[in-house]
Amino acid sequence: MNIIVTGGSGKLGRAAIRDLQAHGHWVLNLDTAPPKDPQGPFTRVDLTDFGEVMGALSGIDQQYRRDTIDAVVHLAAIPGPTQRPDHVTFAQNIVSTYNIFEACVRLGIGNIVWASSETLLGYPFDGPPASVPITEAVRESRVSYAHSKLLGEVLAEQYAREHPAMKLLCLRFSNILDPDAGDYDGLEGWQADPQIRKWNLWTYIDVRDAAQAVRLGVESEITGMEAFIIANEDSVMHRPSRELLNEVFPGVLYTQDVPGTQSFYDTSKARTLLGFTPTHSWRRH
Ligand SMILES: NC(=O)c1ccc[n+]([C@@H]2O[C@H](COP(=O)([O-])OP(=O)(O)OC[C@H]3O[C@@H](n4cnc5c(N)ncnc54)[C@H](O)[C@@H]3O)[C@@H](O)[C@H]2O)c1
Repeated sequence: MNIIVTGGSGKLGRAAIRDLQAHGHWVLNLDTAPPKDPQGPFTRVDLTDFGEVMGALSGIDQQYRRDTIDAVVHLAAIPGPTQRPDHVTFAQNIVSTYNIFEACVRLGIGNIVWASSETLLGYPFDGPPASVPITEAVRESRVSYAHSKLLGEVLAEQYAREHPAMKLLCLRFSNILDPDAGDYDGLEGWQADPQIRKWNLWTYIDVRDAAQAVRLGVESEITGMEAFIIANEDSVMHRPSRELLNEVFPGVLYTQDVPGTQSFYDTSKARTLLGFTPTHSWRRH
């Protein structure tokens, strides 16, 4: 397939491009920042500008022109709270997402995979979850970054209703950890205090498994809007998950057992519908 990846210079974008290319896809990276290491075609585009998005998605010069763009993977964003003032995060993320969805509709690109976020699942867990394991049925936002992701999912639902042949997959990634960026180096430091990582109930996603989910999303034959939790099967902790939760939030309802160090995020929807199989546990790193 010919695939545009937005935010391809970022943490997840670089891994997603690597994985897509390794599986035979042609990829064009649209980003405001050039990639650290070249990974194929790159064009500098500000996604908050609708004209730039329309221009880029409809073809850039002869060099990067493809008769058909088959899919757009939209990862570009301010990727979390506190990185910019709240209103800037909200405005940039929601306008970029609208611009991508709207441009895809106008250009007849019906295959969209977009990075939503775990922050819709209860972040920052100042209080207990209603029950565990947590499924896609939970959708609530408490901070501006999460508001931008929530409204992105609502937009995706509306575009899917208006255009039933389209696919708009919203991948709710857990905290993305990249071993090559040293993200696993601090894990031992989290072990002594369960409070340090209670903000996402001790979950994570290895960047290579996140990239796998992106590719499976692009290649899947699903139509309509679907949201998926994307996380690794285990937690970031050595202690059993049940013991951690009981210490921090005693009395939470279990709708299913969560044995050993299993994650409190339920990824069975992604496993069943996408064939998602995370293989990069930090424990083997
Ligand atoms: N990092 C995480 O833990 C995490 C967790 C859940 C969801 N997500 C989501 O996954 C996606 C990727 O996150 P990441 O960690 O790779 O972030 P990142 O910051 O490493 O990469 C984001 C990229 O988007 C680009 N970008 C930002 N605004 C842009 C704009 N207006 N126009 C063009 N390019 C723009 C940046 O230059 C950057 O290269 C984001 O949508 C983020 O919200 C991230």
